[in-house]
Amino acid sequence: MSLMPPPLAILAELTHRCPLRCPYCSNPVELARAREELSTDEWIDLMRQAAAIGVLQVHLSGGEPTVRKDLEQIVTAAREIGIYTNLITSAVLLDQARVEALAAAGLDHVQISFQDSEPGPADRIGGYAGGHEKKRAVAAWVRAAGLPLTVNLVVHRQNLSHLGAMIEMAASMDARRIEVAHVQYYGWGLVNRAALVPTRAQVAAADDVVAEARARLEGRAVIDYVVPDYYARRPKPCMGGWARQFLTVTPAGKVLPCHAADSIPGLVFESIRERPLAEIWESSEAFRRFRGTDWMPEPCRSCDRREIDWGGCRCQAFALVGDAAATDPACGLSPHHARIAALAARESEVGEGSFLYRSFATVDEARAASGLTRDRERPEAAVPPAPG
Ligand code: SF4
Ligand code: FES
Repeated sequence: MSLMPPPLAILAELTHRCPLRCPYCSNPVELARAREELSTDEWIDLMRQAAAIGVLQVHLSGGEPTVRKDLEQIVTAAREIGIYTNLITSAVLLDQARVEALAAAGLDHVQISFQDSEPGPADRIGGYAGGHEKKRAVAAWVRAAGLPLTVNLVVHRQNLSHLGAMIEMAASMDARRIEVAHVQYYGWGLVNRAALVPTRAQVAAADDVVAEARARLEGRAVIDYVVPDYYARRPKPCMGGWARQFLTVTPAGKVLPCHAADSIPGLVFESIRERPLAEIWESSEAFRRFRGTDWMPEPCRSCDRREIDWGGCRCQAFALVGDAAATDPACGLSPHHARIAALAARESEVGEGSFLYRSFATVDEARAASGLTRDRERPEAAVPPAPG
């Protein structure tokens, strides 16, 4: 019998294909090709396995999940199995008939991301002409189909001055939930950090904008706010702790504790093509590596927040100090914190404006820019042996 409670939710990355090219995409720099993707039957089998261990919710994501022509089939199966489905989409490939078909198939919820408040800057950031207006149209179709809508607003130095207008736009589209999230700097975000990291003054102003909007929209919309790590005093409890509440399945079926975990060399992530989901969740070596508190170094080991933030983010620790087992440098108690905060402040002031768009064609450039090639050749430097 399993001792580990089941994950609360699964992030199913149905594909890495996407018409948008956002420079902060949370996908790994190493994108999976279409030929590697799980089949319809394999995704449906995953839903069955997930339900069997007690998972209640699946986020259908990507890349862009509507690229998959079998999305309705997957949603129908999830509904029959009894799993709640949330579609996380850029929306630009949807038309009204498909929104209605997805609603009829049993889709429970839709999340649409917006890059800015106006078409010009929004389409520039997403790298897709006409995207912003299309998203607005789809948001209206989603509400007309009776589906609840969440609007995601990813913010950074190049759009933070429009945050108030972005929130207003989301509220005007009848979004009941608005997620304002500062870019997380791993994957493509790390590659483009110099162009995206906000100034400290921008972050302070954004905090005020969110507080004012929360008060004004009370009763109409809930605003979730993810603060930027680099200026934080304490880290976020990334994923609610490594392999404690969530898991991600990549387009090719690899099972990860978080969407960026594959960036950590030295860990072997298993595939649902090779091993049942329940076994991977319960006993996979990579899942156990940072689960709980036994792996923690000082200062986490003796910190009274160790079961609140679980030492922060493993992927960020690796990305910033080359050691996934280190205290997240976002924490003010990390020996690396001051250097990281100074780096962010410096990059934000330099004012780099151009970025490397996410695409299959720019993977090599991104790999070089993020230093992944060099680090991947030294996995022993990234993951020290397990404690004890
Ligand atoms: Fe969290 Fe570790 Fe910092 Fe304590 S020392 S606040 S457990 S990251
Ligand atoms: Fe992987 Fe935070 S994104 S642990």
